[in-house]
Amino acid sequence: MIATSNTITHEEVRIIDQEHDILHRTIRLIDEAFITKQGNKRISQLISELYKFIDFHFTSEENLMLFTDFPYYDEHKKEHTELMRDLADIICAFNADMIDYHELVDYLNNRFTDHSDLPDRQLKAYLVTMIK
Ligand SMILES: [Fe+2]
Ligand SMILES: [Fe+2]
Repeated sequence: MIATSNTITHEEVRIIDQEHDILHRTIRLIDEAFITKQGNKRISQLISELYKFIDFHFTSEENLMLFTDFPYYDEHKKEHTELMRDLADIICAFNADMIDYHELVDYLNNRFTDHSDLPDRQLKAYLVTMIK
């Protein structure tokens, strides 16, 4: 089926929801890796996976926003850019032993829960209206 301009399918909205689930699952895996002492190599692999996945997920959302002419694209994109910059900073601080794992996991949970609660909820409410 060929998509017409500015409309999307249920599947595209479902994929964004699934990406949020993966993002939160990866944060949980990082937490578990610390609690069960799975080792620094495993933890740094999971942190790298999370960073790359968040970058991918933000690009997915931004592409959908542009495709559907989301009216708050600029604000939402700005928040993504700030989150990626802060995420890189907090990972550097963790790798340099300037913060411990509790601070890392708390940061991940708080910042990404906040983003899911407000801007992403606003985006989803809009995307649902763009389903053909
Ligand atoms: Fe977002
Ligand atoms: Fe999101």
